[in-house]
Amino acid sequence: MARKMLVTGAAGFIGSNFVHYLVAHTDDVVTVLDKFTYAGNEASLAGLPEDRVTVVCGDICDAELVDGLVRDHDIVVHYAAESHNDNSLHDPRPFLDTNIVGTYTLLEAVRRHEKRLHHISTDEVYGDLELDDPNRFTEFTPYNPSSPYSSTKAGSDLLVRAWVRSFGLQATISNCSNNYGPRQHVEKFIPRQITNILVGERPKLYGEGLNVRDWIHADDHSSAVLRIIEAGRMGETYLIGADGEKNNKDVLELILTTMGQPADAYDHVIDRPGHDLRYAIDSTKLREELGWQPSFSDFERGLTATIDWYRQNEAWWQPQKAATEAKYREQGQ
Ligand code: NAD
Ligand code: DAU
Repeated sequence: MARKMLVTGAAGFIGSNFVHYLVAHTDDVVTVLDKFTYAGNEASLAGLPEDRVTVVCGDICDAELVDGLVRDHDIVVHYAAESHNDNSLHDPRPFLDTNIVGTYTLLEAVRRHEKRLHHISTDEVYGDLELDDPNRFTEFTPYNPSSPYSSTKAGSDLLVRAWVRSFGLQATISNCSNNYGPRQHVEKFIPRQITNILVGERPKLYGEGLNVRDWIHADDHSSAVLRIIEAGRMGETYLIGADGEKNNKDVLELILTTMGQPADAYDHVIDRPGHDLRYAIDSTKLREELGWQPSFSDFERGLTATIDWYRQNEAWWQPQKAATEAKYREQGQ
């Protein structure tokens, strides 16, 4: 029997990639629940089969709507969130509403109807590492979030853990590193720089660009989430990462040279307040316990494919570009 999956936030970047992945690799029937904020894009769900994917426009904070949808599905995969650190520094309120109250609303419905939940989270809940720290984040690293965004994601993880312990909720959590790939909003680092070059704007690097992110392709995130849903132990947390540590300056120079530009054709802009220095994931538990492996081991190849996707899908990103850059200009970034 086909599983009935309710996927929240699947008009966004990673959720939409997950739904495309599910349709290609399983027989699951999927309902997308998305509020279609500035970050949700109908075009990200284009081409999906109508007999397997239904889209509901709604808010995860709407308890009545959420209750009915959770009741009618087997598994809830929870991607919906306010996801951008820079936005959280200028207006934290929507982050509290969606990331905390929205997750609470889902948890209560999942508890009432005794369903299975997989909660999507981030490595940012662990704070940051020094550049020369030999350790990476593991499932045992203490929580130490820095920004309004990451603190609300940490709060949502703790709610899930409390519902598992107090009410026996059937749930798993995953904390993943920085994703790249198709359908990522142009506010984020990699798409912002690619589309700046495509529209003839100079790319923008925060500070000196020595901050390190641990890049993973969105399809590898999807395969890991599916593996956890199918074989993960209830109540457990799994870290997802693909050994992709790179500093921002190196990533930007690679984008520029891949797109035929001089490596130094970018501007330094003011740094993000409280900017986390380095993230690095140790995904041994996921690999050894569940036998998961990433398929995109070559970052340069994945990045080139991502650049090609933005070249070929201007109609997808162009409507968001001017407003996004106007917001950054106001912030001096
Ligand atoms: P995104 O901003 O691209 O998409 C978020 C989606 O959630 C959008 O479609 C938006 O409309 C929807 N949404 C927002 N508020 C909602 C609400 N109240 N009700 C229903 N839908 C709502 O984000 P993303 O980058 O795809 O991230 C998805 C999830 O993955 C988030 O939980 C994020 O914390 C987590 N994550 C992201 C990364 C990354 O690198 N982007 C890495 C690790 C974890
Ligand atoms: O680590 C996982 C997290 O990765 C997710 O939880 C978040 O949802 C996701 O947005 C991402 O957070 P970051 O803050 O790391 O991603 P962002 O794309 O905003 O920035 C990546 C790095 O690039 C960061 O060090 C800031 C820098 N940057 C960003 C922008 C937008 C620049 O140098 N210039 C820019 O224009």
